[in-house]
Amino acid sequence: MSERSFVSDIDQLEAELIARIDGCANTRELEELRVAALGRRGRLTELAKAIGRLPPHQRPAAGAAINALKERIEERLRRRRQELEERELAERLAREWIDVTLPPRERPQGRIHPVSQVTEEVIAIFAEMGFTVAEGPDVEDDWHNFTALNIPPDHPARQMQDTFYLEAEQDGLPLLLRTHTSPVQIRTMQAGRPPFRIVAPGRVYRRDYDMTHTPMFHQVEGLLIDRRTHMGHLKGCLVDFVRAFFERDDIPVRFRPSFFPFTEPSAEMDVGCRRGEGELVVGAGNDWLEILGCGMVHPRVLEGVGLSPDIWQGFAFGMGIDRLAMLKYGIPDLRTFFEGDLRWSGHYGFSPLDFPTSWSGLSR
Ligand code: PHE
Repeated sequence: MSERSFVSDIDQLEAELIARIDGCANTRELEELRVAALGRRGRLTELAKAIGRLPPHQRPAAGAAINALKERIEERLRRRRQELEERELAERLAREWIDVTLPPRERPQGRIHPVSQVTEEVIAIFAEMGFTVAEGPDVEDDWHNFTALNIPPDHPARQMQDTFYLEAEQDGLPLLLRTHTSPVQIRTMQAGRPPFRIVAPGRVYRRDYDMTHTPMFHQVEGLLIDRRTHMGHLKGCLVDFVRAFFERDDIPVRFRPSFFPFTEPSAEMDVGCRRGEGELVVGAGNDWLEILGCGMVHPRVLEGVGLSPDIWQGFAFGMGIDRLAMLKYGIPDLRTFFEGDLRWSGHYGFSPLDFPTSWSGLSR
């Protein structure tokens, strides 16, 4: 190879590359071209290899010429890239504009289910009286759900048609879905040391289905055990509770004698109400509505968890959360609570922004 032809190769390559650089329509094409020209297998690299075939005294000049060409091509590429980038940016800016004056798109916002709302309200009221929250399992054993609560073997709650039994067994007896939150009393007293002051909200299960009964519903249990607790404390506590919950200081209440195997004496608490024309108003009128069961914890229950009834005594109560929600917020059919209809949640649900800092749902 002669020096002459080498120089003309360089000139030719330069002219060709420059024409192609100017012809690139975008930065991607330009990048492909850069690799084809300057890459490891690129045209300039190939030409540089040809230097080895020149007579030795020509090689330095040829090498310098290649390097100079490389610099010129790089410079040209850089300028072209800048041009193309500016053009592409201008195109994008023209295409992708945002109208900041448009109103925001509304995001769907969930609602708090009345059961959750009322659970929080109830907990907040009892928390102010010093109760803490306790929990227990939905799947219970026979002992915690029945025996430890002094419920005799022939009690109707133990019948197949009243309770959901599982195939799994414990101590030779089938496990079951708890029929009330009262087993949490037992678990709390077994796990800790008196005094106790707890409320236990949760799901419970019974074989029932109509306007006011569903196979799964919610209760909140209360338990207070101390040395000198008496029925007066029970009454005071629950009267304060219903006044706070229904947000009426003048709400009429009465306690009726009742029976539960795990309390003695036992009572049911009614609140005054007015019924008529398919409506039910709580807190006034001359009718009564039952809202909870309660009583002094039975000595046998205390003995069963190793507490001496001569030292420790207390009261317990249990109420249906769903029922409280129906009464306070005027929801007629319990079954609708668990159908998952978004229109229902939109109507009866609560704004998450009010939750759970204020327990008073009425003042939303
Ligand atoms: N466990 C009872 C029920 O489900 C309610 C209750 C609880 C009554 C505690 C008295 C004391 O009906």
